[in-house]
Amino acid sequence: RWYPGPEWATLGVLHTIGAFRKRSPKEPPLDKGFIPWLGHGINFKKKPSIFLEEMQKKHGDIFTVLIAGIYINIVGDPHTFEQILKESKEKLDFNGFALQVVFNVFGFQPTYSHHKIVQSNSKKHLRGKNLAVLNKAMWKKMEMVLLRTQGSAERKGSWQQDGLLRFSYKTIFQASFLALFGTEPEKSSEGNENATNHLMQCEEFYEAFQKFDHFFPEMALGMLGPVDKAKTQKLKEYFWDQLLVEKVFSKDNISNWLVELVQQMADVGMTEKMQTQFLLLLLWASQANTGPAAFWILAYLLKHPEALKAVKEEVEKALRETGQEAKSEGPSIDVSLDTIKTPLLDSAVEETLRLAAGSFVFRSVMQDMDLKMADGKEYTLRKGDHLLIFPFVALHTNPEIYPDPFIFKYDRFVNPDGTKKEFYKNGKKLKYYTMPFGGGTTMCPGRFFAISEMKMFVIMMLTCFEMELVNVEEELPPVDKSRAGFGIAHPAHDIQFRYRLRF
Ligand code: HEM
Repeated sequence: RWYPGPEWATLGVLHTIGAFRKRSPKEPPLDKGFIPWLGHGINFKKKPSIFLEEMQKKHGDIFTVLIAGIYINIVGDPHTFEQILKESKEKLDFNGFALQVVFNVFGFQPTYSHHKIVQSNSKKHLRGKNLAVLNKAMWKKMEMVLLRTQGSAERKGSWQQDGLLRFSYKTIFQASFLALFGTEPEKSSEGNENATNHLMQCEEFYEAFQKFDHFFPEMALGMLGPVDKAKTQKLKEYFWDQLLVEKVFSKDNISNWLVELVQQMADVGMTEKMQTQFLLLLLWASQANTGPAAFWILAYLLKHPEALKAVKEEVEKALRETGQEAKSEGPSIDVSLDTIKTPLLDSAVEETLRLAAGSFVFRSVMQDMDLKMADGKEYTLRKGDHLLIFPFVALHTNPEIYPDPFIFKYDRFVNPDGTKKEFYKNGKKLKYYTMPFGGGTTMCPGRFFAISEMKMFVIMMLTCFEMELVNVEEELPPVDKSRAGFGIAHPAHDIQFRYRLRF
């Protein structure tokens, strides 16, 4: 017979599905599961935290698993993370998976130079002196969203009820969208900013964003069915129209971060179409995590009255010391966050991110390489495989590092004298003790602004409003597991709360 028979085809299929892969002596323990090709795909997708925890118990601090046709090395020892995160991209590349996600969701292929521009520009505008400028704009917009609309005459003093997720997400979204992407030029001559007009403009945008973000995990993994594909395409077209460069640039008060980013992208040859697609990426990156983070911090504070009281007293004292006080009329809160000391609030923010942030850090193995673990053991990683760190399991909820890891302790990160606590594993101090923003060259460049936003939101809510959960007995909702790995967890459902202006 001159042609390869069915037995060859079977061999070929078995080879592609990894049936013959054997662990060589220096490689991490290999676990292919029982289902050919899919391996542990189902468990990994359904309950990644439990799956990774069980695997770590079985195999130790490094192991290789087969997941939907790809081999992923999982590293669970946080002392080894630094070694991995500083590895060159010629060995451990960050772009492979990220490129696919960006292409699937936003429709363009970013390059290394785009990545560099985002990082360097954000370093310039989203930290230090320039962050203080952006924070000032953010205070104003948040005040506008919270006080001028909630504080309107007919609402004054009366209790309002809303879903806490909806309220927190919408407030942060509107304020930060206006602070970063600018405001429509004033048509009227009414001097003070036409708040209602601005807010109506972002209302529709917010609703469309919620729909878009709902599909994000499936879009990212390229798993949308035809009906949802059509829906997401429509939503993208809506955003691409709203985010046409000329439309965005016709606004007032655009942040320098955005103006310079788009300008620099144009300078390296990005077409106008790509600039719009890139603006949608920036919109998503700057909004998708902060809304749910704002929800969790308020939810935890409302569920833990002792925490709420302590943080509130600390914030009020800090504001008094700078001569500020929240009022509906008169001067607004305008305080530089660097100048006030709020160690309890800072700790509550860190504790919230510890419990709510579940991002994967993903790298592709570009060449056969050795990885030296912090305990001195060396392993060989194979070219073409991948590497994954899941800080939520390895760090954030590791009981050796954080006793009672699933309990919210607002002062967990602060010593009684106000200094920051240190954290240890195996008796050794941890360099990275939480990683809500990823790590290495891909670490979130908006992290300082994100933390400022959370703090401003809490400060405003605690000083200007009285709040309570509608049903104080109600447990906080569990997390929506379908989004595991994609940033801040979403609650599986909303929870109702009441609020009213204090003055
Ligand atoms: C609580 C809020 C936030 C969280 C938890 C968060 C988390 C993350 C994570 C995990 C990544 C990917 C890191 C990696 O691949 O290792 C990322 C990337 C990014 N984030 Fe954030 N982020 C937040 C808020 C923000 C804000 C407010 C901005 C901008 C104003 C922002 C801008 C970006 C950008 C532009 C990237 C892509 C960076 C690149 O391509 O190198 N993020 N973020």
